[in-house]
Amino acid sequence: MSQLVDPFGREITYLRVSVTDRCDFRCTYCMAEDMTFLPKRDILSLEELDRLCSVFVGMGVDKLRLTGGEPLVRRNIMWLIERLSRHFDSGQLKELTLTTNASQLAKYAHRLYELGVRRVNVSFDSLDADKFQAITRWGKYEKVMEGLEAAKDAGLHVKINTVALKGVNDDEFEKLVRWSHENGWDVTFIEVMPMGDVGELRLEQYLPLSMLRAQLQKSFTLTDLPDKTAGPARYAWSEETGGRIGFITPMTHNFCESCNRVRLTCTGTLYMCLGQEDSADLRQPLRASDDDQVVEDAVHEAIGRKPKGHDFVLDRRRSRASNPRHMSVTGG
Ligand code: GTP
Ligand code: 5AD
Ligand code: SF4
Repeated sequence: MSQLVDPFGREITYLRVSVTDRCDFRCTYCMAEDMTFLPKRDILSLEELDRLCSVFVGMGVDKLRLTGGEPLVRRNIMWLIERLSRHFDSGQLKELTLTTNASQLAKYAHRLYELGVRRVNVSFDSLDADKFQAITRWGKYEKVMEGLEAAKDAGLHVKINTVALKGVNDDEFEKLVRWSHENGWDVTFIEVMPMGDVGELRLEQYLPLSMLRAQLQKSFTLTDLPDKTAGPARYAWSEETGGRIGFITPMTHNFCESCNRVRLTCTGTLYMCLGQEDSADLRQPLRASDDDQVVEDAVHEAIGRKPKGHDFVLDRRRSRASNPRHMSVTGG
């Protein structure tokens, strides 16, 4: 049993670690085009990230997910992954995984597999190269396709994450399901969350997944699968394509009651909830002492403040986000 239990009795076993706030893409729902990134001096070294993650593993976290920004653009990131993979040997770590835009997977997929990574979640919103360009602004479609091929070749399970964007990719959901399932991948659709100012009206991007699901049901027979995962997605089985479709609906269905996760940023800030501002600074205790107990105490104190859930709202008038923090700070 995890030593980390929050005030609502939820066991914290999953740490999401944003290893960089930088990204080689500029997805319209995630970042503004002219982002100001964190100064290098504020960012934890890979050694410090290793130490912090290892403290969490020692306290009962058995799933680590590296996110960003784009985790694979952080220099020497494979060093960190190699270090973290040592926790498989003690049996403390059950899963080490990433959420990535796949741009660097052609380079890293095989090594990731060698290091014990078995699954990657890939953010991918359109099969139409022009639309892909419009959504990601700086993305390179071909590189992503090569990355996905490499992942398949390496034996990595892939889950495609598609953010449902009104008037942008809402004519492609069926195609994305067929394509994902033909490749043997799960696909998960996500409602846009109002995180960070991206210079666009959130309501204009927002498409409730109930509409998306109704659209898919015209082509596929969907059967709800039992809610086994502690994750935010609820899954359905598609009979015609023989694959799973996930629905992440933070705006219309709240899954906070079974939340098992906290988020660490590359500056050592721990966010207890994606949708809440409250945080704990772990960099200070980390740098103040070589004694891990000091860090553990700070973690315990933080988990004791984990809120019940998020309170996202879509502002009808302004582009302002209900949470000012960009998704790239915590990696979703
Ligand atoms: P699995 O391990 O495959 O279940 O992945 P995951 O859903 O935990 O992670 P992923 O990085 O693929 O996240 C998919 C989407 O779910 C992203 O848009 C995240 O922001 C969102 N998400 C993940 N965890 C939470 C959460 O606790 N609350 C909310 N509101 N959204 C979340
Ligand atoms: N709302 C919903 N999902 C988002 N992501 C990034 N920004 C948002 C947002 N505002 C998704 C990415 C990635 C995951 C980590 O979060 O597409 O798959
Ligand atoms: Fe980069 Fe992912 Fe944000 Fe797109 S959604 S800009 S790929 S971090």
